[in-house]
Amino acid sequence: MNATPCIIKLSHISFAYPGSDVDVLNNLDLTLCQGEKIGLIAPNGSGKTTLFHTIMGLSQPRQGTIELLGKPMRTPKDFEAIRTQIGLLFQDADDQLFCPTVLDDVAFGPLNLGFSKEEAKNTALETIHELGLSGIRDSVTHRLSGGQKRLVALAAVLAMRPKALLLDEPTAGLDMDVKETLINILNSLDISMMIISHEFDFIHEVTHKIYSMENGKILTDEEVHVHQHEHVHRHGRHPHKH
Ligand SMILES: Nc1ncnc2c1ncn2[C@@H]1O[C@H](COP(=O)(O)OP(=O)(O)O)[C@@H](O)[C@H]1O
Ligand SMILES: [Mg+2]
Repeated sequence: MNATPCIIKLSHISFAYPGSDVDVLNNLDLTLCQGEKIGLIAPNGSGKTTLFHTIMGLSQPRQGTIELLGKPMRTPKDFEAIRTQIGLLFQDADDQLFCPTVLDDVAFGPLNLGFSKEEAKNTALETIHELGLSGIRDSVTHRLSGGQKRLVALAAVLAMRPKALLLDEPTAGLDMDVKETLINILNSLDISMMIISHEFDFIHEVTHKIYSMENGKILTDEEVHVHQHEHVHRHGRHPHKH
């Protein structure tokens, strides 16, 4: 085996939703290797969320193989064991958060990992602090704004100290300041990640490769011809490419 196995290796993955004969994922190949930070930009309905759910074992492909952290994933138990090491931020934060308070939600993962109550609480508090959420740690999660929920969901994922992150549209509903915070956090993390977003500027700041999806397959950066020009938006602060 390779000395440093890929974090994610999908080979020939095909997936269709029950009752549909459209392959949302169609003989798809993808690798995410140690240290890689990959952005995924593709139109709505391309299958990006389905791809992440398939990687996590939440959708079962009818064809192909999935290897995570060098291990073949064959059974639901294989995926369960890996979910603490590869953290998925769901597109909809409400799918991630189900505890009464912010602190409970963020401590849930560490508790599940077998930490003592006190260790779990301390890890949660530390993560909450790192994400600038200390002011809302005792708030009722379901009453928070969309942007706040998204950061709490990210805290819940990061509290498990994952080896890799899959982020499904993390900037949706975030205002500029919070987005800057998120950019700083993601750039400070020395772990592999794949990030779905429609925002080129954001993706450009936090990843070093950009992939797309078409007809159920990944287009790698050699295949994505990003046209580049620089201009300034009326409300924009930074020149950017798209
Ligand atoms: N639970 C589901 N049941 C049936 N079809 C679905 C379901 N979820 C998504 N789809 C369909 O699969 C395709 C890909 O969806 P999705 O993975 O959510 O795309 P993206 O995240 O790129 O917007 C779309 O055509 C969508 O309508
Ligand atoms: Mg999606």
